[in-house]
Amino acid sequence: MKKGCLPEHMLYSPAVFAVVDSYQIFISFDCPAIVKIIVGQSVFCDDSNGILRSETTVHKITIPMEVLDGAAEYTVCFREMIDRKPYFPVSSDERRITFEFRPIQKDKEDIKIYLISDTHNLTAEPITAGQYFGDSPDLLILNGDVPDHSGSSENFNTVFAIIDGITHGSVPVIFSRGNHDTRGLYAEKFIDFTPSFQGKTYYTFRLGPLWGIVLDCGEDKDDSHEAYAGTVCFHDFRLKETDFIRSVIENSKLEYEALGVTRRIAVCHIPFTYTDHSPFDIEKDIYSEWARLLREYIKPDVMLFGHMHASEIWRRGCEYDSKGQSADAVVAGVPEYNKDGKNRYTGAAVTLGKDEIEVIFNDSDGNIIRKEIINYL
Ligand SMILES: [Fe+2]
Repeated sequence: MKKGCLPEHMLYSPAVFAVVDSYQIFISFDCPAIVKIIVGQSVFCDDSNGILRSETTVHKITIPMEVLDGAAEYTVCFREMIDRKPYFPVSSDERRITFEFRPIQKDKEDIKIYLISDTHNLTAEPITAGQYFGDSPDLLILNGDVPDHSGSSENFNTVFAIIDGITHGSVPVIFSRGNHDTRGLYAEKFIDFTPSFQGKTYYTFRLGPLWGIVLDCGEDKDDSHEAYAGTVCFHDFRLKETDFIRSVIENSKLEYEALGVTRRIAVCHIPFTYTDHSPFDIEKDIYSEWARLLREYIKPDVMLFGHMHASEIWRRGCEYDSKGQSADAVVAGVPEYNKDGKNRYTGAAVTLGKDEIEVIFNDSDGNIIRKEIINYL
C-alpha cells in the first residue's frame, strides 16, 4: 500500500513490529477511533478488558506470527468515534483497508535488513536512504534515537513516518530504544507508542531462520548525572536485564538454538562493549557480563549498534572492543543537518547472506559510502 492511498484519518501505514512470537501492529490516527484487524477468519481488537479503545490516537493490536505469516495480508477496520457517550455512542461507518504482508520465509537465504538509528527527527532523508533495496527490505531495524526525545506524543510520528515510507506496512520491523528516547514527558509512556514484551523494552524475536535479541542500555551517563535531576533508575533496570539475558540462555532450546534458526543477531542502540570516556564510561561490570554472556553462549553472527553517529565496522579485538565483542559490529546511523536545509542521512544495508554478511553504508543523496564484508565465525 503506497502513501496517498490511505483513508482519511489514518496517518501512516501500520508499523508491524516483531516481538518474541507475535507482531505488535501500531496504527496512528488523527482522531479518536476504534480499531480492529482482520486476518483470514480471525478478528483482533485494540481493547482494554473488552472495551474497544478510542481515547488514544495510536492503537496497538497483537497478532500471533503464525497467523499473519500464513495469511500474508491483513485488513485494518476502523470507525471514527464521534461521541462516546455512555449510552448509544456515535461513530462513523466502518472503513477498511488491506495491506499485503511479506514475512521472512523459513528457507530465506539472503535476508536483506535496512538499519536505521539516530535520525534525531530527520524523516525524509532516512526514508530515501532506506529504499536502498528497492521496494522494501525483508526487515527494517530502527535502533534508537529516531525522534530526538520523548517530550511530546507527536514525536513518535517520526517513527511511524519512517516505517511507512520504507515498509508500507508490508514487512516486519524491529525497534530498540535509544538513550534520547528516555528523555521527556512521554518517556514513561514509551511502551504505549512502541513495542515491548511484558512491559519491557528488551526482548527476543524470531523471523523465519533469523533469531535476535534486542537490548536496551537506557541512558548513556550515570543515574546521578545532573542532566537527569534524579528522574531515572537505569542501574536497577540493567541488573534486571542481566537476569533476562540469563533466562534467554536457560531457554536456549526455545530461543537461539531452536529448530530452524540459522542466523542470530544482537541489536542495541548503545555499543555497550565499548568503554567510552567519562561521563559515558558507566556500568563496566554489567556491560562486561552482557558481553560475556553473548560471547560464551548466545554467539550472534553480528552485532548492530547505533549511538556513535558513525558508519563503521568494529571488528572483534579492535580499539573499540573494550569488553570482548562476541562478533563484528555494524555501527550505523549518521544524521547531518545543513543550514541550507539540505540535510543528509547515512544508514546501512545489511544482507545476511549464505556465506557472508555484506554491509553497504549508503546515504540519502544516493551515494554508496563504503562496502564491508563480515565473515561468519
Ligand atoms: Fe544515542
